[in-house]
Amino acid sequence: MEFNFGFFSGCKSYVSWIRLFLLYSILCMWTSVECWSYFYSDTTMNWAEARTWCREHYTDMVAIQNQKEIEHLNSWLPMKQDYYWIGIRKIDDIWTWVGTNKALTEEATNWAKNEPNNGMITTTGNSEDCVEMYIKRSRETGKWNDEWCGKKKTALCYAAACKNDSCAYGECVETVNNHKCECFPGFYGERCEQVVKCSADELIIPDKGNLSCTHTYGEFTYDSSCQYSCEEGYQLSVPRPLRCTATGNWSEPPPTCKLVQCQELSQSPRGSIECFDPLGSFSYQSTCIFTCDQGYELNDSLSNTLQCESSGNWNSSQPSCIPVQCSTLQDLENGIVTCENDTDMTFSYGKTCSFSCAHGYRLAGASRVTCTSAAEWSEQMPQCEAITCQNPEGEAHLITDCGKRQTELKPSSTCSFSCEPGFELQGAHITICSEDGLWSEAIPTCKAVQCSAVQDLKNGIVNCEDGTGMKFSYGNTCSFSCEQGFELQGAHITICSEDGQWSEALPVCKAVQCSAVQDLKNGIVNCEDGTGMKFSYGNTCSFSCEQGFELQGAHITICSEDGQWSEALPVCKAVQCSAVQDLQNGVVKCEGGTGMKFSYGNTCSFSCEQGFELQGANTTICSEDGQWSEAMPICSAIRCPHLEAPENGNMTCSKHEPVFSSQCSFTCDQDFALDGHELLTCVHNGSWSGKKPTCQAVLSRNVTTAIVAAGGSVLGSGLLMSLWILKQLRKRTSKFELNSNSSDIDLL
Ligand SMILES: *[C@@H]1O[C@H](CO)[C@@H](O)[C@H](O)[C@H]1NC(C)=O
Repeated sequence: MEFNFGFFSGCKSYVSWIRLFLLYSILCMWTSVECWSYFYSDTTMNWAEARTWCREHYTDMVAIQNQKEIEHLNSWLPMKQDYYWIGIRKIDDIWTWVGTNKALTEEATNWAKNEPNNGMITTTGNSEDCVEMYIKRSRETGKWNDEWCGKKKTALCYAAACKNDSCAYGECVETVNNHKCECFPGFYGERCEQVVKCSADELIIPDKGNLSCTHTYGEFTYDSSCQYSCEEGYQLSVPRPLRCTATGNWSEPPPTCKLVQCQELSQSPRGSIECFDPLGSFSYQSTCIFTCDQGYELNDSLSNTLQCESSGNWNSSQPSCIPVQCSTLQDLENGIVTCENDTDMTFSYGKTCSFSCAHGYRLAGASRVTCTSAAEWSEQMPQCEAITCQNPEGEAHLITDCGKRQTELKPSSTCSFSCEPGFELQGAHITICSEDGLWSEAIPTCKAVQCSAVQDLKNGIVNCEDGTGMKFSYGNTCSFSCEQGFELQGAHITICSEDGQWSEALPVCKAVQCSAVQDLKNGIVNCEDGTGMKFSYGNTCSFSCEQGFELQGAHITICSEDGQWSEALPVCKAVQCSAVQDLQNGVVKCEGGTGMKFSYGNTCSFSCEQGFELQGANTTICSEDGQWSEAMPICSAIRCPHLEAPENGNMTCSKHEPVFSSQCSFTCDQDFALDGHELLTCVHNGSWSGKKPTCQAVLSRNVTTAIVAAGGSVLGSGLLMSLWILKQLRKRTSKFELNSNSSDIDLL
């Protein structure tokens, strides 16, 4: 490849970093080291190849911006048939300087007349996206034309003059014969090597704040960035960092640290809020607690507490109080649920729903429910029950018959009633289940059948099982009994039967009767109640026998309660006296007695042997009671008075006792002589045969004779007297017998 370069070079600015600026277009000598120069290829190539070629060998494709440059190129470049490619191209439908990638400005354009026409002239069908420049054309030389990029044309390039290190912090600007540094803001000096400084003192550190700076070109110089920060919970009034500007001033005044504010929270309806603000209201670290009214709850149940975070946000969104929700009401089988505000399908606090049942059903349970604050329904869900009549439960004794399907007593079912035996129905016999589930008739009752009081039983006793007053029920019994002497004729027991009648008629108590008493042979029957031959209980009959007969058996018989006489009939037996005993020292003579048997009226007589005398009756008769009329007499020996020996004498007796025939003899002591009988005998009439003798002294015979003579006459008359008296006394009593000796003496 051959290189062409122009001896007339145009000056261009060369950017030391990346970009190329064509702000100034100044001509400079080709000899100048830092001037730019033009070059062109001696072959043609398409636009892309042309650009690649320029960038490989020089700086880039030529970018033309002013007339002077065009005039220079038009005069300097040779005529080429297909003209030259320049560095403009249509990118995204915009004409762009490819070197700077900047859009072509209106002032910079240098289009030929009616250009760009985008293929209006050519008919290739290819779009004309590249630009050629007419050089040394007869018309419109130096002007631009849009052209298809695939066409082959001469590449027009340039080479820049500025070097990489020409300027420290500025742009190298190509000038005629030279270049100069145009400093970037913040820099100054020949090579832009000096940097502008800002005052560090102006960086005031605020309360709760801090500062951190970064420096690009040196401490607190241009482009130093000082970032303020605040303690947690505080916020910078201006968050941006302070920059040291090109003028040597800080970009902003120093900021302050403000307490972080969270959004003000509002009282939610149906709830309340309580905040604690350690630093400031609704500020960092403020804590707000939400509570809801009864029946309401926080929509977000995570937490009821919000805290203002250092970010200025609450740690959670503000909750609101929403009504508590009751569980969804189930459908009511065979019924309808109607809720107020039925359009919203929620069941929240306070909502009331009511229930109704379909025809033929009835509501069992609450007719309405309300959602309570506890999120529960006030009542349990009711049910719709098919209407049936309740099984008619009667009292005891009632028999109910509702047919076989007793479990389902639907309307128009019937039940019939009856009573157990002994009870009678009071009320309806049949009831019908009506449409509203009630029975047409009240349930009847069974009343116990009652028998009337039992009449009194004359002479008898009625004893009834159930003693309560005069009332008797079915099955009660009464028993009958009669008083003594009466016998029951009829039933002993009667029962109150189920028809309220006594099973038996009242019996009677009939007086007991004894039969007539038989005749008593040799005797007499004497009865209390003489009316005919009839005898009642308690009547008596007495028996007695004729004289000479004695009763053997009961004397009295009583008609007893069983109608029998208490005693058997007695007999009258002839009286008999026993045999009379032998009489000692005597004789018994009886008349009429056969052997030893004696009957009533027979007699016996008694007599004693000599020397004995009868003491007692001398005759006895067998009396009607079978006893002898007299006691048995005795024969006692005849006794004489007891004798004593005479004074001054002795007595000797033949027997020890002075009984009949005994003899006593007397003697006298010496000088005494017996006067009287020497011997005395006890004779049959119980007296001694003579007078008891005495012993007389024999010394004075005359006296004695005189006394005896005198005494003899006295004695003679006196003795007769005393015997008479003794006889009289004896007749009167035997008492004197005991003292007979003394009386004898007295008498003597
Ligand atoms: C917000 O902060 C409070 C107080 O520390 C805490 O009780 C609550 O649970 C927090 N909430 C959340 C959603 O983290």
